[in-house]
Formats: sequence, structure tokens, C-alpha cells
Amino acid sequence: MVGPNMATDTQKLEELAELLRGRRTIGLFDDKPVPQELVLSAIDVARWAPNHHVTEPWHFYLLGERSRLAMIALIRSIAVAKKGEKAGEFKAAAAAVVPGWLVVTCRRSADEVLQQEDYAACSCAIQNLMLYLWQAGVGCKWATSDVTLDKGLVDLIGFDPQLEFAVGIIRYGYPKVVPRQERSALSAILTKLE
Ligand SMILES: Cc1cc2nc3c(=O)[nH]c(=O)nc-3n(C[C@H](O)[C@H](O)[C@H](O)COP(=O)(O)O)c2cc1C
Repeated sequence: MVGPNMATDTQKLEELAELLRGRRTIGLFDDKPVPQELVLSAIDVARWAPNHHVTEPWHFYLLGERSRLAMIALIRSIAVAKKGEKAGEFKAAAAAVVPGWLVVTCRRSADEVLQQEDYAACSCAIQNLMLYLWQAGVGCKWATSDVTLDKGLVDLIGFDPQLEFAVGIIRYGYPKVVPRQERSALSAILTKLE
């Protein structure tokens, strides 16, 4: 196919709309593992996101067993430092049952406009990834918590903070619970100009 798909098929369009509307941020996951090939396919398609100047500013770090345990330990230590021992245990226990983890970074740029565009492109890529996984029955939570900004994440992943910054920590797995969400009326966010 060389151009946009002439999607006159209303059923296909509605299926796409349902995917876009139906994807939810997932906080509770089944312990069923997610096949790694599926996640690799999701990363592969994610980078077809729109990207001004095609800078390909993203990097995806897929955590394995050692880094997963280090992530749980990092989450615990940050929560302990901020809110005390009990909060640390609670956060660590919640993190320990998350089946899969990804960290997505964006290349740093000295040019403010390019930086903003690159960040936007990374965000589009993450949405692509989450939608692809959702279609396969896998949910995600994209988080930009204090962990994303912590020096401990840099050490855990091993990226150069002068060259990259974390855009998000993505937890993924088969959803245990799919929460409900609402959006405001279209009229609240749409202005039609003459
Ligand atoms: C840039 C960004 C950062 C986010 N950070 C967090 C976060 O730190 N913790 C969290 O629980 N959800 C986070 N989310 C998910 C939002 O809370 C979620 O998208 C919102 O509640 C709407 O729910 P939905 O994704 O199911 O439509 C983030 C989403 C985006 C786009």
C-alpha cells in the first residue's frame, strides 16, 4: 500500500475507534507472562510514530530479571526516603507482581524546539506501543513518577543522562482489572473556525 488506506469500511473504522477509546492505563496485572516476541514487535512498530526530521530520538530498554529486581529495589528505596518504611514495602510489593517493564528515553537536544518535537515523537511512539499491545490483550501503565527523574534509574539502566532522559517507565502485562474512564464532551474541546 503506497498511500493512506481508503478506509471506507465503516466496521474497520469503528474497530480502530474502539481500540483508541478502549485502551486503558492498567494498574493491576495477571501474573501470566507476556511473550517477549510480542513486546519486541510492539517496539518495532512503535517507532513508526510521526517524528519531525526523522531524528529517531527514542530508545527502549527492556528489563530482564536482574534489572527488574533492581527496579523494585529502586522503587522501594525512593518510597522509603520520601514516605517511610511502610510505604516502601507497599510500593515494592506492588512492583514485584508487575510482569514486564520497559523504560523509554529520549535523546537530549540543545535546540529547544527540536527537544520538544523529539519528546512529542517519543510520546507518539509510546502510544503506538501501548495500542499495539492492547490489541494483543496486554495493558500498560506509562509512569513519569519521581523514579523517572531519579539518578538511581540512570545507574540501573546505564544510559548517559547528558545524552538521554527518561520519558517514561512502562509497566505491562495482561490486565487483572480494566478501569473505567470518561472524557468530556467534544464540544468542550473543539472550536470550529470559519
Ligand atoms: C506523560 C504521562 C505520564 C503519566 N504518568 C503517570 C504516573 O506517573 N502514574 C500513573 O498512575 N499514571 C500515569 N499516567 C497515566 C495517566 O494517569 C492515564 O493516562 C490517565 O489517568 C487516563 O487514563 P487512560 O490512560 O486509561 O485513558 C501518565 C500518562 C502520561 C501520558
